[in-house]
Amino acid sequence: MDSFSLSTFILCYALLPFLSFSQTSPPFSQSIFPPFNASHSYYNDNSDTFLVSTNGTYKASLTKPYSTFSAFYLCIIHKASNTIIWSANRNMPISVTSSLLFTINGLSIIDDSNKVVWSTPLLNSPVAALQLLETGNLILVDAENVSLWQSFDYPTDTLVIGQRLYVGKSLVSAVSESNSSEGGYTLAVTSEDMVMQWKGQTYAKLSMDTEAYKNSNSPVSYMEMNSTSLHLVGGDGVQVVVQVLLVPSDTKIAKLGNEGVFRINNMDVNNMVADFAMPVDTCQVPFTCGKMGLCTNQTCICPSGFSHKELNNNGCVTKQVLEETISLPSACTARGNVSEFNSSTFYVEMQNGIDYFVNHFTEPVKYGVHLSLCQNLCSQNCSCPGIFHKNSSGSCYLLDYNLGSFVLNSDAQGGPLGYIKAFLNVSTEHKKHSFPMSALVVIIMLSGLFMIITMVVLVIIWLRKKRPTGVNLDRWDSSSSAELEMISIPGLPRRFNNEELVAATENFKSQIGSGGFGTVYKGTILDNTVVAVKKITSLGDRGKMEFCAETATIGSIHHVNLVKLRGFCIHRRQCFLVYEYMNRGSLEKILFGNDPVLEWPKRYEIALGMARGLAYLHSGCEPKIIHCDIKPENILLHDDLQVKIADFGLAKLLYDEKSKLLTTLRGTRGYLAPEWLTSCGITDRTDVYSYGMVLLELVRGSRNCLFQSSGNENGEGNGPSFSSTNSELQVIYFPPIALEMHKLKRYMELADPRLEGHVRSEEVEKLVKVALCCVHVVPTLRPSMSNVVAMLEGRLPVGEPRIEALEFLQLYGGKLNEASRKLRGRDSVVEEEVRSLMAEELTYL
Ligand SMILES: *[C@@H]1O[C@H](CO)[C@@H](O)[C@H](O)[C@H]1NC(C)=O
Ligand SMILES: *[C@@H]1O[C@H](CO)[C@@H](O)[C@H](O)[C@H]1NC(C)=O
Ligand SMILES: *[C@@H]1O[C@H](CO)[C@@H](O)[C@H](O)[C@H]1NC(C)=O
Ligand SMILES: *[C@@H]1O[C@H](CO)[C@@H](O)[C@H](O)[C@H]1NC(C)=O
Ligand SMILES: *[C@@H]1O[C@H](CO)[C@@H](O)[C@H](O)[C@H]1NC(C)=O
Ligand SMILES: *[C@@H]1O[C@H](CO)[C@@H](O)[C@H](O)[C@H]1NC(C)=O
Ligand SMILES: *[C@@H]1O[C@H](CO)[C@@H](O)[C@H](O)[C@H]1NC(C)=O
Ligand SMILES: *[C@@H]1O[C@H](CO)[C@@H](O)[C@H](O)[C@H]1NC(C)=O
Ligand SMILES: *[C@@H]1O[C@H](CO)[C@@H](O)[C@H](O)[C@H]1NC(C)=O
Ligand SMILES: *[C@@H]1O[C@H](CO)[C@@H](O)[C@H](O)[C@H]1NC(C)=O
Ligand SMILES: *[C@@H]1O[C@H](CO)[C@@H](O)[C@H](O)[C@H]1NC(C)=O
Repeated sequence: MDSFSLSTFILCYALLPFLSFSQTSPPFSQSIFPPFNASHSYYNDNSDTFLVSTNGTYKASLTKPYSTFSAFYLCIIHKASNTIIWSANRNMPISVTSSLLFTINGLSIIDDSNKVVWSTPLLNSPVAALQLLETGNLILVDAENVSLWQSFDYPTDTLVIGQRLYVGKSLVSAVSESNSSEGGYTLAVTSEDMVMQWKGQTYAKLSMDTEAYKNSNSPVSYMEMNSTSLHLVGGDGVQVVVQVLLVPSDTKIAKLGNEGVFRINNMDVNNMVADFAMPVDTCQVPFTCGKMGLCTNQTCICPSGFSHKELNNNGCVTKQVLEETISLPSACTARGNVSEFNSSTFYVEMQNGIDYFVNHFTEPVKYGVHLSLCQNLCSQNCSCPGIFHKNSSGSCYLLDYNLGSFVLNSDAQGGPLGYIKAFLNVSTEHKKHSFPMSALVVIIMLSGLFMIITMVVLVIIWLRKKRPTGVNLDRWDSSSSAELEMISIPGLPRRFNNEELVAATENFKSQIGSGGFGTVYKGTILDNTVVAVKKITSLGDRGKMEFCAETATIGSIHHVNLVKLRGFCIHRRQCFLVYEYMNRGSLEKILFGNDPVLEWPKRYEIALGMARGLAYLHSGCEPKIIHCDIKPENILLHDDLQVKIADFGLAKLLYDEKSKLLTTLRGTRGYLAPEWLTSCGITDRTDVYSYGMVLLELVRGSRNCLFQSSGNENGEGNGPSFSSTNSELQVIYFPPIALEMHKLKRYMELADPRLEGHVRSEEVEKLVKVALCCVHVVPTLRPSMSNVVAMLEGRLPVGEPRIEALEFLQLYGGKLNEASRKLRGRDSVVEEEVRSLMAEELTYL
């Protein structure tokens, strides 16, 4: 016994000098006295801790927490779980040689160049000690042990037991798992509640949490956590305003994670276990699926109606593609001019049941307003990316500039509907390149002209040598050498002059049509051929230049099912195209006008002719041409009902290769494929879609979209008919009917009733099936035009329409009916109005 105590005493005595030495070098327990320096590089043994709390629960270190970056921080760390609960310089990491300086003036962090990166504020009295309390609070005290400063007052993203978060203070999430800089989510205490926000938009409130109890309406003073509860405490410091009961545990760490969820974890033996999370459903966190992603069952997808292309490329996380089409305010401010793009501003309607977190936390900007008024409010506001509108109450919510993810609403029927503001990306590239582009065009044209002249001269010489007289080229005899440009070369369209066209059309007397690009006049040129002269009106200056370069291409295309370009004319700032004249007019007139009923065999021929013409444009000629505006108006017929497609090659002038989008909204609604409004870009399958739509009209003998007054039973087949009295306007949308009948295999019911059954049933079936295949929502599922030709000719078996890729037709139909209902009860309904309304509703699914 004695010997044992003696030996213990001797041992202790012997060790004393070492023990005392260890007390004067880090890590210190509980307190440090100034002056004191610490730097990671001081420690050779990699123990970067300079202070531990009394019982060793927490440590203070100048450390490098994320192995990937050589970034150092002054941190307080919960030792058992290695959790950082506070960091002094979270936004400003320091290097390995930077140091911590502790003087009677306080704490500061000095970087390599002796610059102060962080420091405690100016204090009232000299500092006597730096203490790390057992709670995890780092404090500076004066000689009377009075706290001068404490880390608990400067929370980062974490809260521990006993730490109070006062009104006006907040936790701010980190950027990511490995970057502690301040990220996008905040958790703040207000005088009513604890709210979680993303870029200023609330997405959760403590009082609304399913686990929370609200006990009083007193104003809140602070939020605090103890071993059994998280609570908001009233101004008197006693009243518990809102409380969440927790699993009892003496060690709790509450953290606002970088993913936007506030979690409380308990220390259980040696592990952290989850206790409470808010929001529980991570889909409720605003940016879970990125901008405009749809979070459903913890998975990210794209809202329907938005490009399916991204779905294949792993969802909406690749947001760039979406942003290209759906323009959000950044574009707006970048251009700084609203009126510049409002002409092509429109709203993409989100599917029913898509909800947005903000709707549950904000008041509508207006109640009881119509959708169009709500949209106007948004259209006028550069920083409004879209709206939510509740039809039942007329509530109008404007979305914030920072747009997050959507969720599915369980209560699909009653919720507001979302409309995202969009406009076709009129590429700013145009502006940037307009000068070089036009210069390029001029150069190309000049060199082209030079080549033409050279060729002409060569041809002249050749012809002169061969046949000195009787040269048979157009206009050759009368042209002087100054009029070289009027010479026609086989294979190139002829260039007319303005006088010729004025004479030919008798000063543009008889207009025979007008369309996307301009007005068409009938005329007779000198050799007595009848021509159609198209006066181009809707091209800008650049368009005109390119148009001229483009005519050479168009003119070089010859196919029996394509309208032939005979020539062109450029006069001052105007362009004209001279086409062969098609005396039977357009399919539109023949099918929907007052012409005699078009017999079935002719219809089949027309279907085939159209397909052949398009197939040639898509694969028979170089460069490949996408028509972009296939509709009955552009299908022309000649005496023997020979079919020819008009207006091809013109869309290219408006097509921007880079953005894969047309610079203005082209094409005719109703024949427009869905991808016009998404980011997939326009391909030859876009024409296939329009072809499919025309095919259905050919089978039915009426517009796919038919407006009729109820009570007018025989309006069908004669196009829209309106009566000016109180009759109700009804819309019949044919494609979904075709789909239904296809499912039932009752094809004969789809044929034009005016034919009274004089059809070939197997051909009707074939055309309907081909048409449905052509309008598949996914462009790649549509057959190519060459395959359509092969199917119609019987060389290929007819494809089976895919029901799931046609489901959207029903949606279209629904939209149309909605549109028509809006017009009910109006006295006089102008067709144009219906059509434009229809177009609005139709195009943006
Ligand atoms: C602490 O740092 C200061 C300034 O960098 C320096 O002047 C001083 O010598 C250092 N003291 C110790 C003990 O390292
Ligand atoms: C430190 O631990 C001891 C024994 O476990 C305990 O009695 C004491 O209260 C603890 N001190 C603090 C500040 O928690
Ligand atoms: C200050 O607090 C420390 C630790 O809590 C204690 O050891 C010390 O005696 C106190 N000093 C005074 C003057 O109260
Ligand atoms: C951390 O995030 C901030 C803010 O996004 C960024 O500026 C900084 O470069 C990031 N730091 C590292 C080491 O990646
Ligand atoms: C935690 O705080 C609540 C509310 O103030 C209180 O009712 C409860 O008794 C506290 N629990 C402990 C263990 O102190
Ligand atoms: C959500 O996903 C999980 C797993 O992926 C699945 O088990 C569950 O049935 C899904 N719930 C719903 C409602 O789709
Ligand atoms: C428009 O397209 C261009 C080029 O494709 C792109 O650089 C730009 O960001 C787009 N603008 C918008 C608003 O999407
Ligand atoms: C916006 O554009 C229009 C037409 O391009 C122009 O008249 C107007 O001055 C522009 N406004 C500003 C502020 O740039
Ligand atoms: C564009 O905006 C101007 C001014 O806000 C408005 O007068 C004009 O009607 C708008 N144009 C279109 C097509 O919306
Ligand atoms: C524009 O909309 C934003 C939110 O979408 C709103 O905060 C802002 O007040 C609006 N500005 C105007 C002038 O209405
Ligand atoms: C929208 O509200 C109006 C008026 O409250 C109502 O007549 C109409 O049927 C509603 N439309 C839809 C689609 O609910």
